[in-house]
Amino acid sequence: MTVLITGGSSGIGYEMSRHFARGGYRILWVSKPPQELADAKVRLEGEIEGVEIHTLAQDLSEKDAAKVVYDWAASIAVVDVLINNAGFGSFGFTQEIPMEKDVAMMNLHIIGTYQMTRVFLDNMLSRNTGTIINISSITALQPIVRLNTYASTKAFIRHFSMGLQEELMMQKSKVKVVTVCPAAIGNTAFKSSANMEDVKTFTKGLVTTTAEEVARDVWRGFNKGKTYIITGRKARWIYKTQWLLPYWLEQYLVKRESQRE
Ligand SMILES: NC(=O)c1ccc[n+]([C@@H]2O[C@H](COP(=O)([O-])OP(=O)(O)OC[C@H]3O[C@@H](n4cnc5c(N)ncnc54)[C@H](OP(=O)(O)O)[C@@H]3O)[C@@H](O)[C@H]2O)c1
Repeated sequence: MTVLITGGSSGIGYEMSRHFARGGYRILWVSKPPQELADAKVRLEGEIEGVEIHTLAQDLSEKDAAKVVYDWAASIAVVDVLINNAGFGSFGFTQEIPMEKDVAMMNLHIIGTYQMTRVFLDNMLSRNTGTIINISSITALQPIVRLNTYASTKAFIRHFSMGLQEELMMQKSKVKVVTVCPAAIGNTAFKSSANMEDVKTFTKGLVTTTAEEVARDVWRGFNKGKTYIITGRKARWIYKTQWLLPYWLEQYLVKRESQRE
């Protein structure tokens, strides 16, 4: 069995790789920097005896990246599980964030996730088996100030993935699409690349979780056949009661969580 994880060489991608590697999966990673990929490969090989890892350094926000990745993966193995996990954040009021940064993020999260899903879905449908796991975020569940564009891209991933899963069920397909909404993860590179190291969400946040907890929840959910996973125990409880909150109170809490210390 083979799993392809984008952004697998760090953060929750790496932690999810550990579970799949222990489960006997061949690992295919696609991330940007070749050195990070090489270092992570040595690390995982050191941790899990006999694991087979292949890496491709590819910027997934580039046009036609999905086709490059598909052809590369096809030359190695049939992909049973695809995890669209690569992503980054950008924190600040909308007009403060350089437009090129947000456009690159939209290309990666929206166009990239759509294209990766489409090219691998076609192959999975022809075999009537396979799973696509798309990493969204709890920021997709309501507007988030200072993460406005990021949260909007994650809302696309959530909506698109859930809708696709509904379509697959209607067509009685055995292919599955799993939507994952992680809470704020305190121990990955995301918070520094998003310029959020001193933001309350990651320091004293209501829903803060860890990369290990997220990966464990994804692995468990995947094995139980779940198609919608909110990761992190605290976030799961809070989002069970979200429908009880009036919009103004929800936004008051979001604004409190989105402040620098
Ligand atoms: N951390 C959180 O609080 C949080 C919460 C909810 C959802 N998420 C989502 O979880 C996913 C993983 O985040 P993480 O926390 O594990 O952060 P991370 O450690 O920064 O991992 C992100 C991975 O994506 C790769 N990547 C970024 N841009 C790319 C591009 N254009 N092409 C190819 N690879 C690219 C990164 O490679 P580089 O090293 O080259 O950048 C890195 O390997 C993201 O989609 C993120 O939006 C994170």
